[in-house]
Amino acid sequence: QILILDFGSQYTQLIARRVRELNVYCEIHPYNKVPEITDDIKGVILSGSPCSVRDEGSPDLDLDSLRGKLPLLGVCYGSQLLAQKYGGEVLPSEIREYGRANLSHIDTHYDLLKEMTHGSQVWMSHGDTIKELPAGFDVIASTASVRVAAFKIKNEETYGIQFHPEVTHSVEGKNLLRNFVVHICGCSQDWTSDVFIDATVAELKAKIGDDKVVMGLSGGVDSSVAATLIHRAIGANLYCVFVDNGLLRKNEFEEVLHSYKDMGLNVIGVDAKQRFYDALAGISDPEAKRKAIGNAFIEVFDDEANKLEGVKWLGQGTIYPDVIESVSVKGPSATIKSHHNVGGLPDFMKLSVVEPLNTLFKDEVREVGRALDIPETIVGRHPFPGPGLAIRILGDITAEKVKTLQEVDYIFIQGLKDHGLYDQVWQAGAILLPIQSVGVMGDERTYEKVVALRAVGSVDGMTADWIHLPYEFLGKISNEIINRVKGVNRVVYDISSKPPATIEWE
Ligand code: XMP
Repeated sequence: QILILDFGSQYTQLIARRVRELNVYCEIHPYNKVPEITDDIKGVILSGSPCSVRDEGSPDLDLDSLRGKLPLLGVCYGSQLLAQKYGGEVLPSEIREYGRANLSHIDTHYDLLKEMTHGSQVWMSHGDTIKELPAGFDVIASTASVRVAAFKIKNEETYGIQFHPEVTHSVEGKNLLRNFVVHICGCSQDWTSDVFIDATVAELKAKIGDDKVVMGLSGGVDSSVAATLIHRAIGANLYCVFVDNGLLRKNEFEEVLHSYKDMGLNVIGVDAKQRFYDALAGISDPEAKRKAIGNAFIEVFDDEANKLEGVKWLGQGTIYPDVIESVSVKGPSATIKSHHNVGGLPDFMKLSVVEPLNTLFKDEVREVGRALDIPETIVGRHPFPGPGLAIRILGDITAEKVKTLQEVDYIFIQGLKDHGLYDQVWQAGAILLPIQSVGVMGDERTYEKVVALRAVGSVDGMTADWIHLPYEFLGKISNEIINRVKGVNRVVYDISSKPPATIEWE
């Protein structure tokens, strides 16, 4: 595997994704918690950083313990750290360099740059630049304004690059990473979904043995794939709980429950709609809604888990970005849910946790799901927030409003599917607004609700842009909604990107 040491760059996860796309396993660790360098680790990548190596107290690392022992690639900050530590000079760039540049000089004799083309476009994002390299460091690529765009240390497989090969605007970035990971580090490209599944199932079997596992399913990709893997390992000793919180999409509870049963999972479906509506009654504040839903879920799940006897493990669909977030350079996420600390832990939370997907990115989870033959309706489904339609109904929640929004959402999502647009959209949904507007239907004046439609493109939900759905499609859907859903007389389309807006309205 490849070890990526993170200095806090926004692009570190992207480096990992690119390496994984080469079918090579890699892990991200914070620069100040370097794991033991075992024989499994074939090379190290040092990430970029928002900091400057010139600042006092900027992230630092004992490079002597790595240099010359295994191949090393410094990216941006990582390369500046290498240059500065061994006697080079790093200075602020005259202008902050951000955006596309071209490698006007590139020495393809070096393994790192093999088969790359003269003039290759790369992505720059840095405020510092390497002015002088230490003795024994050779410049191997330059752009018009950055002399040291890439370097190699003589007689060792240590490289530095000023640009970001992980960003797709670096057109041959993937070549460069392949050169490093495959040719220089000698990693074999055999990390595939099937290998992952076999290894994970064997690991789960050894870990869990004959114990029982309980797990909450949400209908989403992550929990479904995690459950399927655990089920492969331990069969009927896995007990799944799928809660109808009354905030799911139209027919979703029945359909998903049906799919789970078809997949052979041992699922207990719990109708807790009223319990959630009661918990939400009169609450309009978005965070208060989330809290009420979280608490209600814990209560319902605890009740169900307590009905099972002799359970030792709690299965969870945690994926790698959540893990990275909790051990990141920036420190653990501050959003530890407050209800976990109130009045002691619920019984099920005292169980040992098993998280078979905690090394995978979302797209890898989908691939594994497909390799496990999980139906496309589950694997290819858009992300859907845990609090469900509650955060798409602005204001307080009632069963009637949920019903209205379910109908609107159904027309929109079904329309996307029927017009072949669903897979082009990362996430879509409808929002019920707490305002009424005047309309006219036949000869009658109406004064009814407004709904907004939202469809975004994104890679990971961190940033997103609105999708330019065809006008004809939007017109057709708007007509259908107004004609068929009682109480709605106006449809608008949300054209805000994230940032500065968010995907959900609450
Ligand atoms: P935002 O609205 O922050 O959403 O741009 C980013 C992604 O996260 C989902 N989301 C949630 N998921 N619980 C969840 O499980 C939540 O409270 C929650 N809020 C937002 C949202 O649907 C989008 O995919």
